[in-house]
Amino acid sequence: MTAAEAKKRIEKLTDEVNYHNDLYYQKNKTEITDREFDLLLEELIKLEQQFPDLKQPDSPTQRVGGTISKEFKTVTHRYPMLSLGNTYSREELQDFDGRVAKGLDGEKYEYFCELKFDGVSISLIYENGLLVRGITRGDGVRGDDVTHNVRTIRNIPLKAKGKGIPATFEVRGEVFLPKKEFERLNKEREDIGEETYANARNTASGTLKMQDSSIVAQRRLDCFAYYLLGEDLGVESHEAAIHKIESWGFQVSPTYKKCKTIEEVFDYIDHWENRRQGLPLETDGVVIKVNNLDQQERLGFTAKSPRWAIAYKYKAQSISTRLNGITYQVGRTGAVTPVAELEPVLLAGTTVKRASLHNANEIARLDLRIGDYVFVEKGGEIIPKVTGVDLPKRSPSLKPLKYISKCPECGTELVRREGEAAHYCPNDKGCPPQIKGRIEHFIQRKAMDIDSLGEMTIKQLYDLDLLKSPADLYDLKKEDVMQLEGFKELSTKNLLQGIEQSKSTPFEAVLFAIGIRHVGKTVAEKIARHFKTMDNLAKATREEVLEAPEVGEIIADSVVSFFKDKDNRREIERLRKAGLQFESKFKEAEKVSDVLGGKSFVVSGTFQHYERDEIKDVIIANGGKVLSGVSGKLDYLVAGENMGPAKREKAEKLGIKIISEEEFQKMLKDR
Ligand code: IVH
Repeated sequence: MTAAEAKKRIEKLTDEVNYHNDLYYQKNKTEITDREFDLLLEELIKLEQQFPDLKQPDSPTQRVGGTISKEFKTVTHRYPMLSLGNTYSREELQDFDGRVAKGLDGEKYEYFCELKFDGVSISLIYENGLLVRGITRGDGVRGDDVTHNVRTIRNIPLKAKGKGIPATFEVRGEVFLPKKEFERLNKEREDIGEETYANARNTASGTLKMQDSSIVAQRRLDCFAYYLLGEDLGVESHEAAIHKIESWGFQVSPTYKKCKTIEEVFDYIDHWENRRQGLPLETDGVVIKVNNLDQQERLGFTAKSPRWAIAYKYKAQSISTRLNGITYQVGRTGAVTPVAELEPVLLAGTTVKRASLHNANEIARLDLRIGDYVFVEKGGEIIPKVTGVDLPKRSPSLKPLKYISKCPECGTELVRREGEAAHYCPNDKGCPPQIKGRIEHFIQRKAMDIDSLGEMTIKQLYDLDLLKSPADLYDLKKEDVMQLEGFKELSTKNLLQGIEQSKSTPFEAVLFAIGIRHVGKTVAEKIARHFKTMDNLAKATREEVLEAPEVGEIIADSVVSFFKDKDNRREIERLRKAGLQFESKFKEAEKVSDVLGGKSFVVSGTFQHYERDEIKDVIIANGGKVLSGVSGKLDYLVAGENMGPAKREKAEKLGIKIISEEEFQKMLKDR
């Protein structure tokens, strides 16, 4: 492909992917399948690798992430990020309304009400329509530059589109982890034996400050915009500003409303009190803003917050009910979770019967006793929490609770590993929920993707002694399946076909499917590509495993001990015999030229035009060699931002040429 052809194709693909992204995220519609979308994106990524100088500034490939930021730069906000005054009662809101009326000398005014989103505030700076910086609130005056991570958030436009876009402007909004994503993430963590996160807000905040933007991309953060700042914006009200940013491609929550009086504000508050539970994110109140911008300016600010806006916080919804008992659930990794069985009670529109108690520490902290009346609260999360005991109601006959010492499923003595809050059942080979859980993990979509098999079928096959490990799946016969409840000729055929087809699942997914603790989907992919085959991995030492990307000590230990285990090795051999893929088909970037032929490079720091590892792919694709360290043999050190001083010093001492990203790109221009 010539550079001119590539340019055309890159532009076309960029437009297409952006179009489908927009459709999906802004309008909740799809015109192509996920697979078709992935293919477009993959083609674009490949072309950009081959022709990095042709990458469009709003390329959707930035959504995929890949940059590692060791440290975030601190930046001063152009306009300080103030907080809002909080109110908790209608009286306080009345007082606020009185202050506004007085401040405006009896002039007419309107309010604009929005929900108060419980996430992390972000400042987004645009220049010439392009997103150039994303900054956290920090202390309000200075925040962290988290641009690389912000670019992965799909409903934050990389390029503002539409009419009347000023040369520079700033949009503020709230970055959040949708409730569904939070639950999915915790399920995934539970699945690989990691501790789950406590709440969506802190997880969103932690995610925004992660060093590896490709992990941020997988977390699927979202953003609601609620504030436009800049000079000469040509808007007279907050409402107009909101419509404007919406038309430029920002996502605005549709829950806003203009109110003429404080009574209408109260109605808005009442309207959302329970309904907000059904929103995709957590909210903890209402933000009330004077709509007219001129009036906002006249009301001005106190040292900490605007006089033209205030937050009303909803009271946490809490109710008292009887704790009837505690049950214990055992997960795939053997982790035991206590669950409070409650006298059913209506709370914020739904009946609550159960609540997770997390672990033994939580039960001890709450000093729970069966028969107690406990307070149950629904924060933003879907799963209710037990927040305390109604002590005056406690009957003196209630006895302190003793945590179970044996597995409720198989009777094995539980263990508690150092540094972990959960109790575990160590009988991973014989404990039914652990065995069934391993099979469920194995067949899930992200793993072997056998969707003809479900939890109920696994249970039936398990009860019939036909399915005790994933490898047993590949020994199943027609007559085994036909005897199951609800299975006829066709459904049996489908099931067996699904199992058969899974044999072509790529090695990357197989490695995730076999369920090594702490090895999630991404890590499995990295390890598979690093070691290329199951055999290479199985015989690797701890030190060798540590050399794979994204692998730390906990993962390395887990991998090594997995392959040391005799039963695991037998299982792996059975899977091999069944015909599963044990070799990665992943290919390095294709060769496009030889302009860097015979030259060697070390790459260090971060770059403007390349994500991590991308620049290395480009070197290889153009005939060059990538070395891991600076030595006398090296030709070039490509120096990015934040390169360590030690590397530079060493290169200078050895007289090695140090080149910038621009100089590197010039070398490519000759191809
Ligand atoms: S407007 C000058 N609108 O609440 C104040 N803030 O305590 C501009 N927040 O830091 C803020 N939802 O993170 C505004 N609809 C909304 C909001 C909102 C949540 C957060 C925001 C801010 C904090 C203020």
